[in-house]
Amino acid sequence: MSLERALALAGGHAGRGYPNPTVGAVVVGTNGSVVGEGISEPAGGPHAEVVALDAAGEAARGGTLFVTMEPCAHHGRTPPCAERIIEAGVGRVVAGCADPNPDAQGGAPRLRDAGVDVELLDLPAARRQNEAWRTWVARGRPHVMLKLAVSVDGRVAVPERRWVTGEESRRRVHELRASVDAVAVGMGTVRADAPRLDVREAPVVRQPRRLAFGGGPLPDGSELELRSGALRDELAALAAEGVQSLLLEGGPTLATAFLADSLVDRLLVFVAPVVAGDGPPMTGPLPEPLDLGVPELERVGDDVLLGWRLQEV
Ligand SMILES: NC(=O)c1ccc[n+]([C@@H]2O[C@H](COP(=O)([O-])OP(=O)(O)OC[C@H]3O[C@@H](n4cnc5c(N)ncnc54)[C@H](OP(=O)(O)O)[C@@H]3O)[C@@H](O)[C@H]2O)c1
Repeated sequence: MSLERALALAGGHAGRGYPNPTVGAVVVGTNGSVVGEGISEPAGGPHAEVVALDAAGEAARGGTLFVTMEPCAHHGRTPPCAERIIEAGVGRVVAGCADPNPDAQGGAPRLRDAGVDVELLDLPAARRQNEAWRTWVARGRPHVMLKLAVSVDGRVAVPERRWVTGEESRRRVHELRASVDAVAVGMGTVRADAPRLDVREAPVVRQPRRLAFGGGPLPDGSELELRSGALRDELAALAAEGVQSLLLEGGPTLATAFLADSLVDRLLVFVAPVVAGDGPPMTGPLPEPLDLGVPELERVGDDVLLGWRLQEV
């Protein structure tokens, strides 16, 4: 239950720790009651464990710390959480998932060495709270979410129609845009549709960067940034600029290139109730069929949203 509470604390504040992960922590005292809670403070501020231990004070001694991710073992902008936990005299730590950051990991073995009982879990719910950050820190590229809108016969454009999917799906896409650091299309989509790619139909704290992959040129007045290098190089460069999450809204050509190069982490396909009969298919040829597994399913207005995680850190 306390780990669920820690997950709920962090889940309610997605992105708060950016560019660090957002973590939740709960300290339960020896009498079984919650004596401290914490969420990661914005970068440079204390980590969730420290906030919770500060709140708990002496009541943490002999108690259990529930935390959504393995406590760090390194001196970043703040001292290592593992040392603070040892000093506080916590008897047991339950962590929802391992820390994938090569510079910070090692908290669990450090705690065990100091005699703390550590239970290191691998809960998808814990990992997914920071999935973009995990991909960014472990793979050196942004987490890529490929979104496609298709007809029942798998075409990305329907003759005589401006949009493939309905209004609610399009609003959902604006929510997706609001949740990422950057949105991108290929130059084919720029030439066909000249999309703005900004968030207009959802609340947004920070507009995502808006990119076009390809040789260009961009049309006059376009506010997109042109990225003309090889995809992997551009993704590495974006990661170095702090882009942890990328929503790809391009057409079939760019979608095929990303899929063929195993650069898609999450695939979202909005299927509209129409048989287009004509128009471009959602991908070109791939080196081999992609076995996606069981989808997550959701009705969005008259459309159906299918979602898969193709790779997870
Ligand atoms: N339903 C949907 O989800 C959806 C979404 C977007 C677009 N569309 C539709 O899709 C159609 C446009 O399709 P599209 O395939 O031309 O658009 P696209 O995939 O967005 O753009 C293709 C362009 O991407 C650039 N590119 C950059 N890196 C590449 C790489 N590694 N491999 C291949 N291309 C790369 C190239 O630009 P350069 O030529 O400049 O080199 C290429 O021409 C339009 O009808 C549009 O309405 C549908």
